[in-house]
Amino acid sequence: MFVRRIAVVGTGYVGLTTGACLASLGHRVVCADVDALKVARLRAGQVDILEPGLTELVAEGRAAGRLEFVEGARAAVADAEVVFLCLPTPMGAGGAADLSAVESVARDLRAVLPYGTVVVCKSTVPVGTSTRVAELLGREDVAVVSNPEFLREGSAVRDFLHPDRIVVGSDSPTAAERVAALFAKLGAPTVLMDAASAELVKYAANCFLAMKLSYVNAIAELCELVGADVSAVTDGMGHDRRIGQSFLKPGPGWGGSCLPKDTHAMVRIAESVGVDFGLVRSTIEANRRQQRRVVDKVRDAVGGVLAGARIGVLGLAFKAGTNDLRDSPALAVAELLALEGATLTAYDPEVRRPLPGMTVVEDAYLAVRDADAVVLLTEWPEFRTLDWGRAAALMSGSVVLDTRDHLDVDALRRAGLARHGLGRRQPAAAG
Ligand code: UGA
Repeated sequence: MFVRRIAVVGTGYVGLTTGACLASLGHRVVCADVDALKVARLRAGQVDILEPGLTELVAEGRAAGRLEFVEGARAAVADAEVVFLCLPTPMGAGGAADLSAVESVARDLRAVLPYGTVVVCKSTVPVGTSTRVAELLGREDVAVVSNPEFLREGSAVRDFLHPDRIVVGSDSPTAAERVAALFAKLGAPTVLMDAASAELVKYAANCFLAMKLSYVNAIAELCELVGADVSAVTDGMGHDRRIGQSFLKPGPGWGGSCLPKDTHAMVRIAESVGVDFGLVRSTIEANRRQQRRVVDKVRDAVGGVLAGARIGVLGLAFKAGTNDLRDSPALAVAELLALEGATLTAYDPEVRRPLPGMTVVEDAYLAVRDADAVVLLTEWPEFRTLDWGRAAALMSGSVVLDTRDHLDVDALRRAGLARHGLGRRQPAAAG
């Protein structure tokens, strides 16, 4: 394998994972960030992102002299052969992706990139961005390649090192092959294509996943009304290899830093070429409806009026395994509950800071104390092993709404609690 000198610009969860993993494959990697404090912490071996295996990989890379951290993109690219742009592309005005970080780095690097460098866009960017970056760079000798990332928060290192596929797109086939070769050691299926197709793959995949979830949440609602059980229905569906078992769990809606942003961006991308992507718009709307449905269920659990009700909230992160609150469905549900006048006491094992509209407490038992109802919104393993007898004694009501189908129904029943959920006909009473 060729060992390459690589620069990674941006040390968010994508950039840092990319840098640390490429170093673990034997490449020499320099990671850059504009945040001086972050760089100083990374140089001291401190990783602030909750990502299993990442701290260890960063330590290994540094110890082997293959991974370093510098402040500012220019300092990182001095002798780079390949430069990865791993910059944020947040939702901008009207839902389109905000490309200002990518554009300003491209402008900044224009004069300093070594001759013949390949610039790789790893950030999720609208179709045409590779061309735009190439224009901003204005360098005939520098090729631009799109290499979308498919990492999930909470399993980013594993996803990087064991990918389902690697997508590399460029209008320069030689540059695409150079980038694909960086990952050769992973032995993953590699799909080479033009830049526009690679850019679209990421949105197409994330929107499809979001659609799958909104679909399954709608099936869950139907199950409740016709007396079916959603876990049996999805199991039955998932055995069909064309559908698959994964991504079929109903919940309080999908969230995080990617699916909400990418679905909105897809609608805008389609609009920009005169297409009304109704399927994706409905997927987004169904997700909002799902959050409102959870609120309806909490309201029912406290007798129809949320004003003045005390609700214990278990979980705030958008999924278990991360401390990320970006577009968390748990926060969206909490906000709607607070708007109706409920008093919220929340606990999340990885979120300890104060948040508006609720009291964030240090343990789950404090969250359920005096609660008229409890709602579980994030599937943290520790919620499964709570002492529900103790929780029941602390609660003033007796309903636990488990939106993730996560808790042991018998343990709740033994504690005298009624477990309400999604996708099953609700039990008539506790006991
Ligand atoms: C998502 C994609 O899964 C990754 O492939 C992609 O690389 C990434 O976005 C990205 O664009 O960077 P992530 O945002 O980490 O990854 O989160 P997911 O694991 O996909 O979960 C998204 C949401 O769906 C969460 O709120 C989760 O709780 C929910 N979900 C997921 C369900 O409600 N049910 C499921 O069965 C699965």
